[in-house]
Amino acid sequence: EPTYETLLVETRGAVTLITLNRPKALNALNSTVMTEMVAAMAAFEADPTQGCAVVTGSGEKAFAAGADIKEMATKSGAEFFSEDFFSEWTSKVVKATRKPWIAAVNGFALGGGCEVAMMADFIIASENAKFGQPEITLGVIPGMGGSQRLARAVGKSKAMDLCLTGRMMDAEEAERAGLVARIVPADQLLDEAMKAAEKIASLPPLAVKANKEAVNVAFETTLDAGLLMERRIFQVVAGTEDKTEGMAAFVEKRPGVWKGK
Ligand code: CAA
Repeated sequence: EPTYETLLVETRGAVTLITLNRPKALNALNSTVMTEMVAAMAAFEADPTQGCAVVTGSGEKAFAAGADIKEMATKSGAEFFSEDFFSEWTSKVVKATRKPWIAAVNGFALGGGCEVAMMADFIIASENAKFGQPEITLGVIPGMGGSQRLARAVGKSKAMDLCLTGRMMDAEEAERAGLVARIVPADQLLDEAMKAAEKIASLPPLAVKANKEAVNVAFETTLDAGLLMERRIFQVVAGTEDKTEGMAAFVEKRPGVWKGK
């Protein structure tokens, strides 16, 4: 397995565990983290033994406290624009990954940290998690989805509140608002996230990809077009060998055995 400078990557059975690992900088996301996340997610996506990934932060304090402010401080506007800074998070970490991944948020998820958590298919938060988009306090705006994914996740009013004041919200508020799927005690976070990921990885892999794709359509299109896409995706997976097996297994009261075909 390749080794990384800013990530710990480990396969545990069918689950890839990716840990953002710059604890002294509260796992701030610099260019190396981005490049390595692109590589780690591509390796996860390409490995047929892997069915789901968990992304978390090292240390007790933070998932990630944002994009690396020290790296951004000296960059010019022209440099940000010419590099199309932050674009690979969406094109290579999000869009190129058809298998699901879960964010296990273990502390601060601020700015880019909140944004990476929102790139995941869902968020499991520890009870001490804190979410926010404090970019306004630095004289900028979110750049990796904070104004867009957050508005879709929690609605306009709370997204505006968070982006305009830069305040943090705790795990309870984030769950009430629909940002977070579940809250768990801090010492159980990784276990719970791994259990959810193992469950997903044990299910028919084509149906897993199809479910992810279908839910994501809801954020891209009208209801009518989305319902049509849903039926088409349903009809495609209904033609798989795993569908035949899954329905036979139900009728015969036994567990299914999946081929990914
Ligand atoms: N970038 C670079 N370094 C960071 C960082 C960041 N985003 N967040 C924390 N660090 C570093 C600190 O500079 C400090 O390093 P030193 O020990 O070398 O001084 C170390 O991590 C520990 O941090 P603190 O001493 O500040 O820890 P704290 O417990 O007092 O405070 C905190 C914790 C409230 C999270 C505070 O660190 C903080 O406010 N961090 C910045 C949060 C932020 O503004 N994030 C948004 C970044 S912009 C962005 O993300 C753009 C985008 O949309 C993509």
